[in-house]
Amino acid sequence: MRRWFVSWGLAACASVALLAVLLAGCGGGDGGGTPQQLPAPVSLETLMAPEQRQAALVGADKCAECHGKRQNGEKTIHEEWQNTIHAKRGVSCESCHGPGSLHVQTPNDDKTILTFPNITSGLVCGQCHNSHTNQNLAQYQEWEQSTHREAVADVIESGVANPGSSVSTCFRCHNSAFKVEAVDRGLDINNMTVEDLAIYAERAEEALQQNDPHQVASSANCAACHHPHKATGYMVVDGKDVQLRHQSFVAAGSAETQKIRPGATPAEYTSFNHACAQCHNGRGVNPADSALERATARPSMHDSNQYNMMVGQGGSEDTPPIVRVKAHAEIPTQCIRCHMNRGPGQHTFTVKLDACAPCHSAADAVQRQQTTQNNIILSLSALQRRMENWGTATHNNARAWDYSALGGLPAANQTNDKIPLEIKRARHNYYFVIRDASFGVHNAAYARYLIDVANRQIDKLNVPRVAPEPKSRAAEIKALFKSQRAKSEAHGMMD
Ligand code: HEC
Ligand code: HEC
Ligand code: HEC
Ligand code: HEC
Ligand code: HEC
Ligand code: HEC
Ligand code: HEC
Ligand code: HEC
Repeated sequence: MRRWFVSWGLAACASVALLAVLLAGCGGGDGGGTPQQLPAPVSLETLMAPEQRQAALVGADKCAECHGKRQNGEKTIHEEWQNTIHAKRGVSCESCHGPGSLHVQTPNDDKTILTFPNITSGLVCGQCHNSHTNQNLAQYQEWEQSTHREAVADVIESGVANPGSSVSTCFRCHNSAFKVEAVDRGLDINNMTVEDLAIYAERAEEALQQNDPHQVASSANCAACHHPHKATGYMVVDGKDVQLRHQSFVAAGSAETQKIRPGATPAEYTSFNHACAQCHNGRGVNPADSALERATARPSMHDSNQYNMMVGQGGSEDTPPIVRVKAHAEIPTQCIRCHMNRGPGQHTFTVKLDACAPCHSAADAVQRQQTTQNNIILSLSALQRRMENWGTATHNNARAWDYSALGGLPAANQTNDKIPLEIKRARHNYYFVIRDASFGVHNAAYARYLIDVANRQIDKLNVPRVAPEPKSRAAEIKALFKSQRAKSEAHGMMD
């Protein structure tokens, strides 16, 4: 059978000068080159239904005959695409959706064109955005090294077992295909049928079983962050629109940025249209949680509370003055600035300390990060030992304070009356800081404030304060906190 990437290579060479330059082997005018000379060994074919593999290319003008007609005056996909760098570089509809000759004949048969869920796979973009085609386009390989490429198996399995709720609650942030099709295209998730929801779980499970989660089940695919057809204007880098789907807060002081200031309502945090916080958000800020006035058997923050920490919302707070937002929430582009520093490695999402310039020199940043993290880690562990002392004294059980799945009191005792509110509040803040996982870098002032509130709560129970351990233990304790965080069973707290 004809390999799809060969036909793609031919089309690119025949019609598009710049793309041809990208592809070693095309420039010589030999009409397509050999497969070895063509892009990295990623092929759209694996994502297509067998029917489509027989199809031929028809060109974007053909697609526009049907997908270029305006409805209600809204710009069509074809019009939007024409404004993208892709269109200017000859990256056409069929470069991503595969050859369309059969689709044109039978448009309502979804086996004849690459569409949901597989179209959201990183492989679609990885055909070109990989180091084999051009070392400046190594985004695919970088992304492959990140956890965004992975699927959290627990979540997929719980989706299969419980398509009604796990899919619609967890898949928003844990399955890009669902995120892009159902959430970003605005389907009414709450009114989807269980059968419809089950499809996403089944496809994700299949991908996991093939040990190939990046096909459709990745936590955050290219398409979850980038709009494939549209120059959105949310972020322009060196004059190029990077087609972000959601805002990045470039405009400090803009109306959008004002929304994240203190005084914004919890609902705004929940639904906020932010490039990273659409997922790295502990389901918004629920006042019922921060006051912790109702029974809860679980730490009320998911591992995803980085945004809440950064803006200083969602901990158990005390009487004013509350120390909330500090410098880092004000950085233009926020998370992106530190985790996606320009240059090689950008799409691994790991922080490089040259991102801290010009505000801190590299040496200053290392020093500050270490000092702040050590200080927070050691006060967290002192807080933990203090809660253990309370548990031993009152329940003869050092883990009694941790009344959830983590080895505390048994389920029957998880009720309000066994655990004083002071311990609940202290414990909430303890987990809030651990789950954020930056140990003070995101918002040192708020992290310190929360630990202080926790200690003031326990003061009321007359449990003596505990001195921090020596600095030499900080690295070890940090590793412990991090491992405990990922393995915790108490993840399902998105109620
Ligand atoms: C003869 C008209 C026609 C042409 C030409 C055409 N399409 Fe379509 N296309 C349709 C119709 C009708 C549908 C199904 C209706 C729908 O789901 O919106 C569709 C659906 C799709 C879908 C799936 C959308 C979804 O919601 O899952 C994609 C992707 C797509 N077309 C891409 C293309 C591409 C790429 C081309 C050019 C190669 C093209 N189409 C050419 C009529 C056409
Ligand atoms: C860079 C790759 C890429 C190019 C180029 C591209 N698409 Fe898409 N397309 C996607 C991805 C990824 C999705 C799914 C994500 C989404 O809908 O935003 C998609 C979704 C769609 C859909 C279904 C969603 C909807 O909004 O109705 C249609 C129809 C479609 N594309 C048609 C086209 C047409 C027509 C062109 C050319 C004018 C085109 N695409 C060019 C990648 C691409
Ligand atoms: C057929 C090859 C091809 C495919 C497939 C492709 N791209 Fe591109 N993309 C390019 C080329 C070439 C450029 C222009 C690079 C340049 O000029 O800097 C580009 C540019 C971009 C840009 C603009 C930013 C910049 O600095 O140029 C973004 C964002 C982007 N692609 C994202 C995607 C995403 C997301 C997908 C998958 C949905 C995708 N691309 C699929 C070839 C491709
Ligand atoms: C608001 C978005 C969001 C929702 C909704 C969400 N999660 Fe998460 N979850 C995340 C993010 C982001 C992370 C990664 C945090 C990190 O690594 O710092 C994560 C991490 C996890 C982890 C740890 C992953 C690991 O590597 O060990 C598990 C398990 C998990 N989530 C399960 C669930 C389950 C089950 C649900 C539904 C009940 C759910 N999540 C709903 C955003 C979300
Ligand atoms: C978690 C969100 C996220 C994911 C996933 C993601 N990107 Fe990006 N991407 C961004 C952001 C944000 C930027 C702009 C960063 C900057 O330059 O400050 C960007 C920039 C880019 C650029 C422009 C780079 C440049 O040098 O100007 C390209 C091209 C690109 N991404 C392609 C991809 C491809 C291909 C994938 C999948 C393999 C991908 N991205 C996955 C968020 C994401
Ligand atoms: C579509 C949802 C989604 C979006 C958007 C998203 N993330 Fe993530 N992110 C996740 C999930 C889920 C994980 C955890 C994956 C795992 O553990 O396997 C994660 C993991 C991470 C990690 C690694 C955490 C660890 O514990 O190793 C970093 C760092 C990160 N994301 C930063 C970002 C940044 C920066 C952005 C914005 C540019 C962003 N994310 C956008 C869902 C998302
Ligand atoms: C001032 C720079 C900065 C900003 C802004 C920032 N981060 Fe971080 N982030 C860091 C540093 C530094 C770490 C700690 C890395 C370490 O300890 O190894 C970190 C840790 C993390 C982690 C845990 C990663 C891991 O490896 O365990 C996640 C997830 C994360 N950040 C996501 C985000 C998100 C989402 C945002 C925006 C809401 C954000 N960060 C804003 C610098 C920043
Ligand atoms: C846009 C400017 C800017 C960037 C970029 C920036 N910071 Fe900061 N940072 C500040 C300001 C302002 C303060 C607070 C004033 C002070 O303490 O000097 C601060 C404070 C800190 C603190 C001290 C917190 C405390 O009170 O203990 C740490 C740690 C820190 N930054 C780490 C980093 C790291 C690591 C990076 C890069 C990954 C980074 N920052 C990037 C502006 C920035």
